[in-house]
Amino acid sequence: MKKNKILLYTVVFSFFLLIRIFSAVSQEDIETVDDSAFKKLTRPPVSFFHDEHNENANIDECNVCHHMFEDGEKLEYDDSIGMECSACHYSEPRETEADLIRSYHLQCSGCHLKQKTGPVMCGECHRKK
Ligand code: HEC
Ligand code: HEC
Ligand code: HEC
Ligand code: HEC
Repeated sequence: MKKNKILLYTVVFSFFLLIRIFSAVSQEDIETVDDSAFKKLTRPPVSFFHDEHNENANIDECNVCHHMFEDGEKLEYDDSIGMECSACHYSEPRETEADLIRSYHLQCSGCHLKQKTGPVMCGECHRKK
């Protein structure tokens, strides 16, 4: 009898643990770009379903976006995964926020323009809910 009870508790506990793990993982799925340097957004948040986007766009290398440079040269086999763009592109928001905005627009819209696909109009990225 006692063994069964322990087993039951273990099963129930593992079940709830699994639910917690799953919801934690799905919460980390990126759906918008959310750079902490922008304290207050003046536009609606930018729609960006990270994994889905990169799969649909056939981007294989992470450092197409998460790039790393040395002496002005892009390093082919290095990346900056885990760093916000603002870590390097003018993290002082007040004085040079425009430069961070420009970096985002250049990378995102730049590729869309070059490949003639993907949104380039403000409201297509800055989507109202
Ligand atoms: C099209 C550009 C692009 C590509 C390609 C890309 N990412 Fe990202 N990634 C981003 C952007 C933009 C963010 C959000 C940055 C922010 O909100 O500060 C991000 C965020 C992340 C984060 C979260 C960082 C954090 O602090 O929360 C991780 C982890 C990540 N990317 C890993 C990867 C990996 C691994 C790959 C390759 C398989 C990859 N990325 C490819 C653009 C890209
Ligand atoms: C580890 C620092 C670092 C991180 C993180 C970083 N960059 Fe850069 N980025 C640089 C450097 C260095 C250059 C080359 C010098 C320059 O143009 O400022 C550069 C150049 C650029 C350029 C110029 C065109 C090009 O691609 O060569 C754009 C656009 C850009 N970055 C956007 C981004 C975006 C968007 C992110 C986030 C997804 C990002 N960068 C993350 C350091 C970084
Ligand atoms: C290296 C090229 C490249 C870069 C960099 C890139 N994209 Fe894209 N993006 C694409 C392509 C290609 C498509 C069209 C994919 C398809 O046909 O579904 C696309 C589609 C989209 C779409 C419409 C589809 C959707 O997911 O809703 C959005 C929104 C988008 N991109 C946002 C962004 C943002 C925001 C960034 C910068 C953080 C970015 N993209 C950077 C290539 C790129
Ligand atoms: C391809 C996608 C894309 C397009 C098109 C686009 N943006 Fe952005 N924009 C971004 C991303 C990504 C950021 C960084 C957002 C963040 O971190 O919250 C950004 C940031 C901004 C910011 C600073 C954050 C804020 O809300 O105050 C402004 C202002 C802005 N964009 C204005 C515009 C305007 C105006 C247009 C049209 C001319 C435009 N954007 C078109 C992707 C885009």
